[in-house]
Amino acid sequence: MKVLVTGAAGFIGSNFVLRVRETRPDWEITVIDALTYAGNRASLAAVENEITFVEGSIADAELVDRLVSANDIVVHFAAESHNDNSLDNPWPFMESNIIGTYRLLEAVRKHDKRIHHISTDEVYGDLELDDPNRFTETTPLNPSSPYSASKASADLLVRAWIRSFKINATLSNCSNNYGPRQHVEKFIPRQITGILDGVKPKLYGAGANVRDWIHVDDHNDAVVAIIEQGRLGETYLIGADGEQNNREIIALILELMGKPADWFEHVNDRPGHDLRYAIDSSKLRAETGWRPQYQDIRSGLRQTIDWYAANRDWWEASKAATEAVYTRLGR
Ligand code: NAD
Ligand code: TYD
Repeated sequence: MKVLVTGAAGFIGSNFVLRVRETRPDWEITVIDALTYAGNRASLAAVENEITFVEGSIADAELVDRLVSANDIVVHFAAESHNDNSLDNPWPFMESNIIGTYRLLEAVRKHDKRIHHISTDEVYGDLELDDPNRFTETTPLNPSSPYSASKASADLLVRAWIRSFKINATLSNCSNNYGPRQHVEKFIPRQITGILDGVKPKLYGAGANVRDWIHVDDHNDAVVAIIEQGRLGETYLIGADGEQNNREIIALILELMGKPADWFEHVNDRPGHDLRYAIDSSKLRAETGWRPQYQDIRSGLRQTIDWYAANRDWWEASKAATEAVYTRLGR
């Protein structure tokens, strides 16, 4: 199978390529990535000679048409992915997440290929802390930020192309990922690399916000399961029952890195900050048999901390630039 992976110099896409090189060695991988600030070719260094890497944007219609026509399936990760950036400057999110997805859908339609669209649980808005319900495939879209609104827009485009043009497509909406090769702007790597540099973790507001954490390898194994066993036209929610509030995550990181429990500081909260995400992944589990391999976040965080400690070269260059952005944003 010839697989075009978009955004594979980023966090989840690079881990996807590294993982399928091991689990599906017969897949021929081509990558398209614009190498934005979030893209890092070093993430693919271990497989550089086994894949084709094309630097370019998914908003480039001509390039997308050529690459889609030469492959069997598109696995679509490419996106602007950080809420804080979207609150600062929404435009790149519109171009990459909405227009880029539109370009891919048009090429998939023209050449009669398949696409698997990667999305987020943030398209569903947020839940109260005591809400017994979790997000399911039928939860109405209700995004809060320019990022989540752009992802919801892309999801709606994919659904419309399925219904009106009968394209071969599947969608997945996953909860918060953690693991190696995640950009240092994100919550968990920001705190780990900060501690490695002697800087206290930074908690937005009171830190009661809950995220439903999943290891990136578990997410990517679910994506493979959907590609191979999912029903065309369907949406699957991916989650590992990993709800933790931000205070709990910081406490665990501090403990695992040998720091006192109170060694963190509160910073300004994010405007419009979603309170809680929680996924019911029953449909995925029932239809594909997928189960998360990481049973507890402690072991996954231990592995993630070890990776950042051993791979300073990978993150050091982007750390200062990232913190300069946070200083400007007051967070
Ligand atoms: P990331 O920011 O680490 O990587 C995104 C990659 O896409 C980068 O390599 C970047 O260069 C590339 N890119 C951006 N715009 C592009 C464009 N116009 N053309 C080509 N490449 C472009 O993001 P991530 O965390 O790996 O997220 C990947 C996907 O998974 C996104 O669609 C995101 O919405 C989704 N998702 C992320 C999470 C999470 O917790 N990080 C959870 C659920 C879903
Ligand atoms: P983030 O990794 O940005 O993911 P998302 O906004 O997609 O959930 O943030 C995860 C949670 O951590 C979110 O509730 C915001 C919070 N947060 C902090 O408390 N401190 C930080 O330094 C960052 C970056 C995030």
